[in-house]
Amino acid sequence: MTIDSMSTFDPAPRINRPSPELEVATFPTAWVVQLVDGDAVEPDAVVERLHEATVTITDRRISAIDGEDAWSWLVADLQLVVHGADEPWTIFVVPEISDFGVAVPASQDADFRRVLAALGVNVMVQRRADPQLPPPLVALPLPPDRDGLSEMPTLEVHDRPRRGGAQLEHSGALAGIDARNISAWFGSHMVLDRVSLDMPAGHVTALIGPSGCGKSTFLRILNRMHEMIPSASMAGEVLVDGHDLYDPNRKLTDARREIGMVFQKPNPFPAMSIYDNVLASFRLTGVKASTDVKDGVVESCLSKAGLWKEVRDRLRQPGGGLSGGQQQRLCIARALAIQPRVLLMDEPCSALDPTSTRRIEETIMELVSEVTIVIVTHNMQQANRVSDRCAFFLAEQGTPGVIVEHGPTDAMFGSPQDPRTLDYVMGRFG
Ligand SMILES: Nc1ncnc2c1ncn2[C@@H]1O[C@H](COP(=O)(O)OP(=O)(O)OP(=O)(O)O)[C@@H](O)[C@H]1O
Ligand SMILES: [Mg+2]
Repeated sequence: MTIDSMSTFDPAPRINRPSPELEVATFPTAWVVQLVDGDAVEPDAVVERLHEATVTITDRRISAIDGEDAWSWLVADLQLVVHGADEPWTIFVVPEISDFGVAVPASQDADFRRVLAALGVNVMVQRRADPQLPPPLVALPLPPDRDGLSEMPTLEVHDRPRRGGAQLEHSGALAGIDARNISAWFGSHMVLDRVSLDMPAGHVTALIGPSGCGKSTFLRILNRMHEMIPSASMAGEVLVDGHDLYDPNRKLTDARREIGMVFQKPNPFPAMSIYDNVLASFRLTGVKASTDVKDGVVESCLSKAGLWKEVRDRLRQPGGGLSGGQQQRLCIARALAIQPRVLLMDEPCSALDPTSTRRIEETIMELVSEVTIVIVTHNMQQANRVSDRCAFFLAEQGTPGVIVEHGPTDAMFGSPQDPRTLDYVMGRFG
């Protein structure tokens, strides 16, 4: 969802007023869907209906709206649109998010697909379980009188230039990330209240605090994932290397490329090979590279993630066959393949055993020379071991989350200024 379409509730959010958009089509009885199992382009993907909604397509965005709940995807940010081969669902892929989409009634599906294809986005049909069946009807001619849509459907995944041209080298200097006066809401429920935190380049910043105080919400705001959540809104500023992450002229795709994310639960594509998992974002963005370049990226990212030696002889085996700790390092390698300048990690070790945890911590400490890291952890020893800066979040008695204290990790653990910080780091609550 984009900021300007998120919610009718208006807690003084930053709003980018759009210039008039050309409405192309409306599907009044549709659904928002979520990919709940598998990969949208694989035959066994399972998609479930989440919510009834009216889907509107303009020349600029696809929106699904039901009262206060609103989802929307900017056409310019879509990396790929995946249609179900035999069912009327469509998943929209934007960087790091490939789970959400819409479904229109089967009777309107052909029209829906036609309109989408005419927007010129990359369209792919889910791979079919039975290749003997005839190909699905997506290459339909345009309807005769669609204003503003004059191109024929594009069914190829295009070769899009990457930032910095065809080179697949690291993008350059480290970037700091500075969050200023961040507030966040889910509907009318305020969960963060004017939180400011400077996360300097080349450091590991740990976010600590009890459950529900807004750490994950804050992290999602740092790479524009918050806006994908139904009814979410925010206020404040995020500066990456001094540049506004929410600048309306900045593409969401570019923001996501600069800021990678690793989640609590390792989420590699299980049926996809280890090699292809590392390069998954290449495939989703339609980047084409020579085998040599791809081999180089796979080796370098797996090495940086501390996994290369363990998997170099089994690169063609499925990612799902790795242990939990290895899968998490594979996800780190996958996040590194887009050459982020900042890596966000939300409790990356909470599902792992101590040995795997230790291995990931070593990886974090090795990576920080080339990517700024922000990590959420409930493990105080881990925060102490891996971070050099730390911020303590707290939401007291139903109030929104705030940062009670932040600073160098040694000071936060050794001589905190606020008694609540001391209680928390000593394990007395939370
Ligand atoms: N999708 C959502 N819709 C509505 N409310 C949400 C949503 N996600 C989080 N919240 C609420 O926002 C608040 C902050 O949640 P958040 O997940 O950011 O906390 P957290 O500090 O990461 O917690 P934990 O340590 O348990 O992961 C909580 O009150 C939570 O219930
Ligand atoms: Mg969380």
